[in-house]
Amino acid sequence: MAVKICVVGLGYLGSTHAVSMANLGHDVIGIDLDSAKVNLLNAGRVSFYEPGLESSLQESLSRGLVRFQTSFKMAETPDVVFVCVGTPESASHKSADTSHVFSAGESLTNVISRDTVVVGKSTVPVGTAALLRERMSAVAGLPVHLAWNPEFLREGTALEDSLNPDRIVIGSWDDYSSQKLKEVYKPILDRGTPLVEVDVPTAELVKVAANAFLATKVSFINAMAEVAEVSGADAVELAKAIGYDDRIGNKFLRNGIGFGGGCLPKDIRGFVARAEELGVGEAVSFLRDVDAINQRRRAWVVTLAEQELGELKDRKILMLGLSFKPETDDMRDSPALDIALRLARAGAKVTVHDPVALHALGDKHPELIGEQDLSAAAMDQELVILGTEWSEYKSIDPASFGDLVANKLIIDGRNVLDVASWQAAGWRLIALGRNVHN
Ligand SMILES: NC(=O)c1ccc[n+]([C@@H]2O[C@H](COP(=O)([O-])OP(=O)(O)OC[C@H]3O[C@@H](n4cnc5c(N)ncnc54)[C@H](O)[C@@H]3O)[C@@H](O)[C@H]2O)c1
Repeated sequence: MAVKICVVGLGYLGSTHAVSMANLGHDVIGIDLDSAKVNLLNAGRVSFYEPGLESSLQESLSRGLVRFQTSFKMAETPDVVFVCVGTPESASHKSADTSHVFSAGESLTNVISRDTVVVGKSTVPVGTAALLRERMSAVAGLPVHLAWNPEFLREGTALEDSLNPDRIVIGSWDDYSSQKLKEVYKPILDRGTPLVEVDVPTAELVKVAANAFLATKVSFINAMAEVAEVSGADAVELAKAIGYDDRIGNKFLRNGIGFGGGCLPKDIRGFVARAEELGVGEAVSFLRDVDAINQRRRAWVVTLAEQELGELKDRKILMLGLSFKPETDDMRDSPALDIALRLARAGAKVTVHDPVALHALGDKHPELIGEQDLSAAAMDQELVILGTEWSEYKSIDPASFGDLVANKLIIDGRNVLDVASWQAAGWRLIALGRNVHN
């Protein structure tokens, strides 16, 4: 049965969630304070690159299942409100800034009823939900039903992940809220998708714990790469060898320039800050090392560039990729962008190419030279760095690409290039964590 749903916050998470709720047949209103975003969505367009999302949005709009607005006023009281607003890193570069969650909660107090279930999907420090429920109930003058339902979608496959999740996690204080959420997710649950019902603090913790684990796995193999680089070992072969052990697994085990994006970096820092507030900072202090290893890989690429080119001033360097991973134009805390900026700060003339993210660069970084055409971007470069593993880069022909550059020198920051064929075409290829340099 269709549920009347409201989604507050229409960024990467919220717009995908609104579309996926409409996809399940629910009646959806999306709210965001950003009128440009709202207008775009009502016109069937999304403000970021996400494969498949726009066509699904357009279908939902044409079926009248979803609409978007800036006002919290609704003709009918929603049954379920999903809070999907941002929780960025605070200015102090530590804790998560939950002010948007509380401000959305306050706006909602005027429009919800005793029967509405407010569901948090944003990633928050454990304890946020309890405070939110207390504050909303006080302002609304009624006991607010609040639940937490963390989201695990990955940008690049967001809609697919949202509609076919590995599991659904529901954290609630009362049976009414969890039943409502099970009604919302019925089509997904009926397919046998695992449901994990937990208390609210556990639901809040699940998401940061999952991200902390993933970040740790990436930094673990990057730490192995650091050791491999000074010992003549090969971190790619090492990852293959340990990854066959199914207790370890081979996913998230490719060494390179590390993780980025709008979630992992801020979530591990926020987790450390929250654990410290709770008096158990030592329990997750290893996440500081995870963060430091991740940052060191970025600095290492700059060091490699200096080792190869000497003084970087006025040297021509091409960064292939700007987004934090392929299939997205999200450049939040992107390792590729960060390295490009570090090189530019060192005086290099840095050209950047990306199949989809260049538009998002706007005029934010005038020190970088954006070039949409790959061949034009390669012209006369003295060093090429592969920063994001777009398939377009994996299929570059090293021979013809080599004719364009001034110097056949490439750093493979993602370990995705075929070393033998690049070397056969006359390139000096530096693969992070590998002893394959010619
Ligand atoms: N991006 C992801 O892949 C992903 C995945 C899982 C969880 N998350 C979590 O989801 C949350 C949102 O992430 P995002 O990447 O979508 O962020 P985002 O910055 O892309 O979007 C947040 C949106 O919230 C809106 N907003 C802020 N305050 C508001 C208010 N008071 N009322 C209405 N709208 C408001 C902003 O205008 C913006 O459009 C974060 O907590 C993030 O950690 C993100």
